[in-house]
Order: sequence, then C-alpha cells, then structure tokens
Amino acid sequence: MSSDDGTASGPITAAAGARPAGFQRREIGVGGEEQVKHLTSMLDVQAAQPSVIRLRDWVFDRLAPRPGETAVDVGSGTGETVIRLAGAVGELGRAIGIEPNPALRAVAADRASAARVQAEFLDGAAGALPFADGSVDLVTCERVLQHLDDADAAVREFARVLRPGGRVVVIDSDWATGVIHPGDPEVVSRYQRFSLTQWPNPHSGRLLRSQLLAAGLEVDPDIGSSALVLPDGAFRGGGMMAMSAPAAIASGAVTAEELAGLISGLEAAAEHGRAFFSVTMFAVLGRRPAH
Ligand SMILES: C[S@@+](CC[C@H](N)C(=O)[O-])C[C@H]1O[C@@H](n2cnc3c(N)ncnc32)[C@H](O)[C@@H]1O
Repeated sequence: MSSDDGTASGPITAAAGARPAGFQRREIGVGGEEQVKHLTSMLDVQAAQPSVIRLRDWVFDRLAPRPGETAVDVGSGTGETVIRLAGAVGELGRAIGIEPNPALRAVAADRASAARVQAEFLDGAAGALPFADGSVDLVTCERVLQHLDDADAAVREFARVLRPGGRVVVIDSDWATGVIHPGDPEVVSRYQRFSLTQWPNPHSGRLLRSQLLAAGLEVDPDIGSSALVLPDGAFRGGGMMAMSAPAAIASGAVTAEELAGLISGLEAAAEHGRAFFSVTMFAVLGRRPAH
C-alpha cells in the first residue's frame, strides 16, 4: 500500500527490499520523461477523486485566502493548489509552490500559465524554506510529510516563516487506516503491516495536530478528514500492489502466491466495481499566535 495509485504490470517475484518508486526525497530529479508522466498522471487521478476535491474545498474554506496575501504550498506537485491560491490572492498577492522535483515544477508552471494566473514555483525542501522569518501569510502542505524522515522539523519550518496571525494547513494520510477488500483478512493484514515499513512517516495523519502544537501554533479543534477511495482503474495491471510486490515478498511478509491471489482478486472485483481500497486523509489548521 502506498500513496501511489498508478498501475504496473509484470510477473510478481521476490527482489531487493527497496522502497517502491514514489515521492521519496532521495529519488527526486532522477526520473526520466516516463517517470514524470507517471507521477503527473497519478497526481491528476488523485486530484480528480471526490474525496480529495471535498477535503481541498474544506481547506480553502477554512483558510480563507485573501487578496494581497503571500501563500506558499510546500511540495506543490503539479501546482493545482498554488493555481487555486493564486486566484484567491490575486495580482497584489503572491502564490508560491515549493517543489524539489524540477520536472513537476515545469508541469506546474505550464499549467499556471494556461490558467492565466500569476504563480511562482521555486526549488526547495520543506525543512529549509527560502523565506525570511514571519514573512508568509499562509502555508499549505498536502501529502508530503509522510515522505519525510523529519516531518517535525518541516512543521517547525512552516511555523518559522508564518507571520504572527498567519495560518497553516497540513494534510496527510495515515496508512494504518487502510482498507483493502476483497482478500483473505490474514494475508491483507500481513501485507498492510509490511506496507507501513515502506514510508518514512506512515502514521503522518495522526501526528499533524501534535506537530503543529509542538511548533508553538494554535490548533483549530475541527479536524478535516476524507477517505481517499481508489477508482476501479487503479487496480488494472495490479496497481500499487504490483509495484511493491518484490519488496513485500522479499521481506517475508507474504508469499508470491498469496500476493498474486490478493492482486488477482482485487482486479477481478474491480471489473465489477466491487473492489475497495481506501486510506483516510486528515487536515489540521494551525495559526501562529498574534503576539
Ligand atoms: C504525493 S505528492 C503531493 C503533491 C501535492 N501536494 C498534491 O497533494 O497533489 C508529494 C510531493 O512532495 C514533493 N516532495 C518530496 N520531498 C519533499 C521535500 N523534502 N520538501 C518538499 N516537497 C517534497 C514531491 O516531489 C511531490 O511533489
């Protein structure tokens, strides 16, 4: 299980137990054109899911970006959130995406230009933002912290750049909330335990509130949430499970036969709209105290 919902195909065999290709910091910038296309289409599929649209609408409603504000989206991917922020802060404001992957920055810049909004996409990383202390009105960061080795430091960095009264929303999945159906519950459970080892920060969702508090921010008690349910197409060719299959088998969590059975069961069920694969995302709003 991973935040990826792309597809993959090929035989399921045991191989070196590396983490699957995804958004890990160390892999940024190493991908060719194919990988960029894959990342972009994965993010587009996710952005089109009603669950993601609903949660983003909730976030924008709570953040209420105003004309003239400086808004930063950290780990901006294809730029969708930055483009929306740009529309809200207008030409008197600044909408900036921080994104370490140069190919995704290029995709985002093209899309902003097509949308005729003024947006900037800068190289950078969540733990070292290129902004002075107290210089930013709004920070958003969606489904990035799960990929970081030191998410606490990133959240401290968000707090550092916020002006007094500035707002932040962090959104992330908590992979222990994963639901997979159909499948032998015992095999599913072993596969899910394995999948938690594949991400630096798999329980990110539940940590967001305490991270904002530890960074000295006031936290809104109303926590947003939405379950990302994968569309049927995401199971074709084995989907994300096929991508992580070699590592899952090599770890001893599941046998090749067990995993092949799980995958073919999901594929067959998806043909009739009966497969279910979900993970819950949480959104937490913080504010830097005014004094
Ligand atoms: C799952 S994608 C989410 C993209 C976007 N926020 C969205 O919700 O569509 C994770 C993003 O985080 C970026 N990323 C990875 N490591 C990062 C880091 N250390 N700092 C900032 N962004 C990072 C990746 O390049 C990728 O664009």
